[in-house]
Amino acid sequence: MKNFMIAITLAAMGAGFALQAQVKERPVPRLVESDGRYALLVDGAPFLMLGVQSNNSSDWPALLPKVWSAVEYLHANTLETPIYWEQFEPKPGQFDYSEIDTVLAQAREHHIHLVLLWFGTWKNGSQHYMPEWMKLQPERYFHVTNKNGEFVDSPSPFATASLDADTRAFTAFMRHLKTVDPDRTVIMVQVENETGTWGTLRDYSPVAEKLFEAPVPPEVMKAMNKTPSTPTPNWREAFGDEADVNFHAWAIAKYVGQIAAAGKAVYPLPLYVNAALRDPLKPGAPGSYESGGPTDNVIPIWKAEAPAIDIEAPDIYLLDSAPYLKVVDLYHRPDNALFVPETGGSGNAARYLFTVLGHQGIGYSPFGLDYTRAHAPQKGEPDTPQGFLESTARNYGLIAPMMREIARLNFEGKLQAVAEEEGKPTQALHFGDWDAVISYGVGRGGSAKGNAEPVGRALVAQLKDNEFLVTGMMARVDFRPAGTEQQRNSQQIVNGTGQTPSALIDGKWQHRQFLRVEEGAYENGAFKPIRILNGDQTDWGLDFSLEPEVLRVTLATY
Ligand code: DGJ
Repeated sequence: MKNFMIAITLAAMGAGFALQAQVKERPVPRLVESDGRYALLVDGAPFLMLGVQSNNSSDWPALLPKVWSAVEYLHANTLETPIYWEQFEPKPGQFDYSEIDTVLAQAREHHIHLVLLWFGTWKNGSQHYMPEWMKLQPERYFHVTNKNGEFVDSPSPFATASLDADTRAFTAFMRHLKTVDPDRTVIMVQVENETGTWGTLRDYSPVAEKLFEAPVPPEVMKAMNKTPSTPTPNWREAFGDEADVNFHAWAIAKYVGQIAAAGKAVYPLPLYVNAALRDPLKPGAPGSYESGGPTDNVIPIWKAEAPAIDIEAPDIYLLDSAPYLKVVDLYHRPDNALFVPETGGSGNAARYLFTVLGHQGIGYSPFGLDYTRAHAPQKGEPDTPQGFLESTARNYGLIAPMMREIARLNFEGKLQAVAEEEGKPTQALHFGDWDAVISYGVGRGGSAKGNAEPVGRALVAQLKDNEFLVTGMMARVDFRPAGTEQQRNSQQIVNGTGQTPSALIDGKWQHRQFLRVEEGAYENGAFKPIRILNGDQTDWGLDFSLEPEVLRVTLATY
């Protein structure tokens, strides 16, 4: 490993291509599926991405030191950072690889993986990252036309010159990556950023109008579960009020699909797109959310039109648990791995890492946790740079040493994890003969009341029938013999000496006993016990504070 790093560093310092030959070529990262569960394979094994996304304008040499020091403080294993089209292609067909090469070399020095974000045609629905030479030719690289015939601040998916230019640039970027990254520092690439349009539902230019009146393409009919009929309906006939949004999603997905396919053909890294969400619990009418991006209602259209994209991924800036959980449910589909490329990671929101893990997430990456923040803290945000990063740093400090184990157990379907929900002081997780019961805000003998703020989180993985890996924060975890589902729903969990969690199974009481509770730490992927917990440390259940603590628990009944 050490020799490998030396070789990489020397190569990056410009010691020449001869040294690059010493770099061991590693397998290309890929997304795999088994029994409806997904894993991101890095170096051939499941990898859990504990990421952080830098602020939009941070990928410049002068700013990167402030990014790396945050990455280090967070214990993150991956940095998501943009590649700016305007910087990459300053003149048509002339590519400047310096930004890619700089961030790649620095990532290697820091032993951190990268996810590169292609800020191309779309960035948050606009075209602000197009190179100047494109911005100065708006008639060629044109914008969306609204119903009044006016251009809006969003690129048209029907601008073939823009599509050709983006395809050529993205392909050059991927080809370069393939050449300079044999050790696979870059593990995924995001194609565009929050595609779609604000302010109008779709393009109403003459070319768009003609297509809108034409029959809906068969793959869209199929993806949206529409029964074929003759003649094939046009968009309005097929989709009514959803017609404009579906049409715009089709046009953008086709555009992005072409770019992604061209890039993947030269270098088959996993690719994803990210979505600005619509309200998950009460979705408003079209127009109340960014139209045309991979929102939950049009994921099937994106899947059909952009098959080179591996994942449709949600950017989740939600604080309450009910909508957060709903989004995670909507994007965790048999045909879609759950990956959260942007989310709030400050304060209580950090607990949702556990929600994502509990839905077999392959990765998670809070946005803007670096030391380049230029704006004043928002309401409720900690007011020091360190405070802003602290909750995620605690999470990653706990999970990073065992991330390979967590990723493997999740891929094998043996892991469950939860975050505290407002007004819900207990949660139960079912594992074969055992239920793990999580309680929040519970004292010695009393009942669970929930934490003062919903900060609790817990993770339980089944290692053998009666053996579990357990961790969490601000939570108590205990185990109870599992009865029937009906019993599970009606039984109370009881904690405390002499009142061990029990279940009446086939007319006989079964009581949980701890055979052994080991506290330890993961080193090089192996659990190293440091002590056996007993007495006050286990008599009331297994209590987790904010300090990192990992337990291996063996159970029996009497
Ligand atoms: C979502 C976008 O994808 C990010 O690039 C950034 O603009 C955040 N919103 C808000 O800061």
